[in-house]
Amino acid sequence: MKTNRLIIFDTTLRDGEQSPGASMNLAEKLEIAHALAELGVDVIEAGFPIASPGDFEAVEAISRQVTGPTICGLARCHAEDIDRAWQALKDAAKPRIHVFLATSAIHREFKLHMDKAEILRRTVEAVERAKKRCADIEFSPEDAARTELDFLAEVVEKVIAAGATTINIPDTVGYAVPSQYAGAIRFLKENVPGIERVVLSAHCHNDLGLAVANSLAALSEGARQVECTINGLGERAGNCALEEIVMAIKTRGDYFGLETGVNTRRLAATSRLVSRVTGIAVQRNKAIVGQNAFAHEAGIHQDGMLKERSTYEIMRPEDVGLHQTELVLGKHSGRHALRQRIRDLGFHLDDQQLQKVFDGFKALADRKKDIYDADIEVLAESVLHSGPVVWTLEALTCSGGSGSVPHAAVVLWHQDGTIHRDASTGDGPLDAVFKTIERITGVDIKLSEFQIRSVTVGEDAQGEAHIEAEHKGRVLRGRAVSTDIIEASALAFLQVINRALLRDQLKLNPQTEAVKKVVSG
Ligand code: KIV
Ligand code: ZN
Repeated sequence: MKTNRLIIFDTTLRDGEQSPGASMNLAEKLEIAHALAELGVDVIEAGFPIASPGDFEAVEAISRQVTGPTICGLARCHAEDIDRAWQALKDAAKPRIHVFLATSAIHREFKLHMDKAEILRRTVEAVERAKKRCADIEFSPEDAARTELDFLAEVVEKVIAAGATTINIPDTVGYAVPSQYAGAIRFLKENVPGIERVVLSAHCHNDLGLAVANSLAALSEGARQVECTINGLGERAGNCALEEIVMAIKTRGDYFGLETGVNTRRLAATSRLVSRVTGIAVQRNKAIVGQNAFAHEAGIHQDGMLKERSTYEIMRPEDVGLHQTELVLGKHSGRHALRQRIRDLGFHLDDQQLQKVFDGFKALADRKKDIYDADIEVLAESVLHSGPVVWTLEALTCSGGSGSVPHAAVVLWHQDGTIHRDASTGDGPLDAVFKTIERITGVDIKLSEFQIRSVTVGEDAQGEAHIEAEHKGRVLRGRAVSTDIIEASALAFLQVINRALLRDQLKLNPQTEAVKKVVSG
């Protein structure tokens, strides 16, 4: 690999998933992993296999099904972690085990209760064990940015001798500033024998809003891997945002002289996918993928843009996959055009799935004049994620307004073929709908978050409802889209109820594969 070719290590499915409320099920993780491969990342950190059966399954499935990138699994310096990670990764064409142990004084004293000698012994043992299973080994001294530089260098030297091929320097708590973080990379390059044999990697958290700046600083000192997440998802304030670092490298190629293998035209679609799946909206003014990232409002800017785009535009929207007009299809568009658009959007559907999307598309076109990319993505997604359900919505009516008692009537089908009707009042029409659904299904859930947002633009835009709720101590999420926001909310609520019931069924019969696919995560 050329020395100016940067390795993009995506950890959306591992560090990103640690973001509160961002947990994903197996189907969702697979979909994101396929999208990341399509985007052209070099490494996908697919999960932490020892952490849960769901994580193990996801790493195993991604290892088997996603081709192109290296697939990586995280492990602590414990024999069981390393063996479990390898079990999940062993079918990947290019597997990597990522081993970590904290090295900073704070972590040694208060978290690990280990002295320096113990840390050194454990890291070496773990890397040697991992190396017996896998040639590609990454080691991370957790909280490296707050570790004494001489001890950091000692650890790095020992793990390189034990077989590590990538050394990642995490700024775990987002404490570093660019010159200091770059200084740590420089120190290691100048003081660690054997450092020239490994790839140095930056892993920065964004607590001070410096994750991208710190990562770029590390690159200037010779780091050649960046760990990042789509939309900057991750613990607390998140990780270095993939789309930002990639576009910084591309746009300022004159300064950095580096390149990546990322197809930047897939950035907007991948960002939308991750936002939809996690339910975490992208802020409007977010660099690169925010709704306003390419919007010019001030008259003086608009005037400049009309005269010469480069007066106020350093990147073209089409370079990140945003098109001037995303209006793609209408009522009279045919199956062929739809198939092509779905492919362009990065979905891989078989003929049966395509037919279902086509049917949904025709039904939507009857309710909505203009169909945008985002509408098609929602249709394709709902087909990809369809699975067994206990309750299906047949019909619903509701009413509200000042001076009236809000009420709703709901009709649901049960999977045994029986139809059920009920009605109730509530604090508002939606509350009445949710209460009625709970009464019919007999499932009590505690709503913790509820969001409605528009999928596209215009008065007939589809509304997307996101619901997060608690059931028997577990957080479950539901998401649904409709041109009618009450219907979207009811469908999302019902999805949560179905997930709760399917999870209970799964406990009775853990072998039910199809059920597992829908409720895991
Ligand atoms: O932030 C961190 O230290 C991590 C490590 C596990 C690499 O995510
Ligand atoms: Zn991290």
